[in-house]
Amino acid sequence: MTAKTDSSAKHFELKLKDRPAGSMSQTEAIQHHYDNDTRFFSLWLDPSLTYSSGRWFDPITGAPLADDLAAAQDAKLAFHLDAAQVTEGTRLIDIGCGWGATLRGASQRGAAHALGLTLSNDQLTHIAAQGWDNVEARLEDAYTFTTDEPYTAAISIGAFEHFAKPGQTRAEKIATYARFFEVMAAALTPNARFSLQTIVWEAVDFEHSNTSLPETVFPESSIPYIEEVVEASAPTFRLVYLENDPRHYAMTLDVWLKNLKAQKALIEAEWGTEKYQFFLDYLRYSRLAFTRRKNSLARFVLQRR
Ligand SMILES: C[S@@+](CC[C@H](N)C(=O)[O-])C[C@H]1O[C@@H](n2cnc3c(N)ncnc32)[C@H](O)[C@@H]1O
Repeated sequence: MTAKTDSSAKHFELKLKDRPAGSMSQTEAIQHHYDNDTRFFSLWLDPSLTYSSGRWFDPITGAPLADDLAAAQDAKLAFHLDAAQVTEGTRLIDIGCGWGATLRGASQRGAAHALGLTLSNDQLTHIAAQGWDNVEARLEDAYTFTTDEPYTAAISIGAFEHFAKPGQTRAEKIATYARFFEVMAAALTPNARFSLQTIVWEAVDFEHSNTSLPETVFPESSIPYIEEVVEASAPTFRLVYLENDPRHYAMTLDVWLKNLKAQKALIEAEWGTEKYQFFLDYLRYSRLAFTRRKNSLARFVLQRR
């Protein structure tokens, strides 16, 4: 097979760095990364197509919870469903639902309604084809979400990283996050749980954090510090529980990298060498950021006031 030298993915563009900052809408920015063909992602993610860190070990004792990626994703899913208290009859909202693993898990627990929001067309199409009971996915921005019938639980995994914009001051970031928590509080019943997972900055000062997320990978995104999440959520949510450990993501990235490399020939033949190299570099760069503790992985359990 001859490797292609150009990328055939519709939103894939390597020279994003030449683009004026702020020139992409939130939806365009999300689709740039996530609408890269579901089959492409299926070649290196686990079978549930979960695109966020697994949970590999107990945060207190260090005892292993999983010995492969699929089990680490199951353990992570069980953590969030338990933390949000998803049981029979729950009305769950999942912000940034990806390809739907959390929605499927809620459906299996007998949720009355599991609603997922995403900005990716490919993810929406994928979920619509699954036929999971009481599951609905919508192409809708979390920031504009309103509902007449409040939800009793919320989960958001790996979407919070996309909310703030590069170049924002700390005060602007906190205001952006606080608006998100206001939307969530308005959508939830009093005392409802909200389980939130996000990448955070750890050993990086603010100036560096503002410029170091690769724009070519996730345009228009800026990730939070733990303190920013705590401050922004405090008016609307009580903090119930917090865990913070970069090793979960480093271990997840190890497996994604191994899977990607194993599919090199197929990926290059179908999507081109540039795309393979781009994702290889991005996953390696991300892994380094976690092993060097520049980034960490935080899970917050919140309760609506
Ligand atoms: C890294 S993926 C995580 C997906 C899934 N939660 C998982 O763990 O596999 C990020 C998700 O957040 C969604 N997202 C990002 N910003 C969003 C926004 N403003 N409104 C709705 N969804 C958003 C993306 O469309 C995508 O589904």
